Amino acid sequence: MILTAKSPEETIRIGERIASRAKKGDIIGFTGELGSGKTTMIKGIVKYLTGKEATSPSFVLINEYPGKIPVFHFDLYRLRGKIDMKSTGWEEYLDKGLVLIEWADRIRDVLPVRTVFVNISIIDGKRKIAIRRGRK
Ligand SMILES: Nc1ncnc2c1ncn2[C@@H]1O[C@H](COP(=O)(O)OP(=O)(O)O)[C@@H](O)[C@H]1O
Ligand SMILES: [Mg+2]
Repeated sequence: MILTAKSPEETIRIGERIASRAKKGDIIGFTGELGSGKTTMIKGIVKYLTGKEATSPSFVLINEYPGKIPVFHFDLYRLRGKIDMKSTGWEEYLDKGLVLIEWADRIRDVLPVRTVFVNISIIDGKRKIAIRRGRK
């Protein structure tokens, strides 16, 4: 599915729509260049599910937002080279809530096949948002 967002507000609204269908155990991986809107969409998801204002966890690996469906927001931006995701214990979060992973392309190979990928690209200032299930 391909969507277009012409403003940050539209990006947030798409996040809210994704959140309205989310279930515990879901994993969503976000890809797209720096500044494309990954965190913006995640803000929409986190607000919808937990009422919390998400911030970018760029200096920590993960932010947790308790809620009816708890949200676990990973940002892999600062991790370089081969990432040993096993050592982070991230799989323990999988059945506890909704897992959101920014820069998911860095660990694409270890993500479960059910992972939904959201790729955001900037085209003429607008955002093209491609959503699909499964890693390629
Ligand atoms: N659809 C959009 N159109 C224009 N600007 C957008 C859109 N969505 C998000 N932005 C803006 O892009 C900037 C970077 O967004 P951010 O979510 O931090 O990107 P990323 O997490 O991918 O690096 C922010 O200023 C945000 O408001
Ligand atoms: Mg970000």
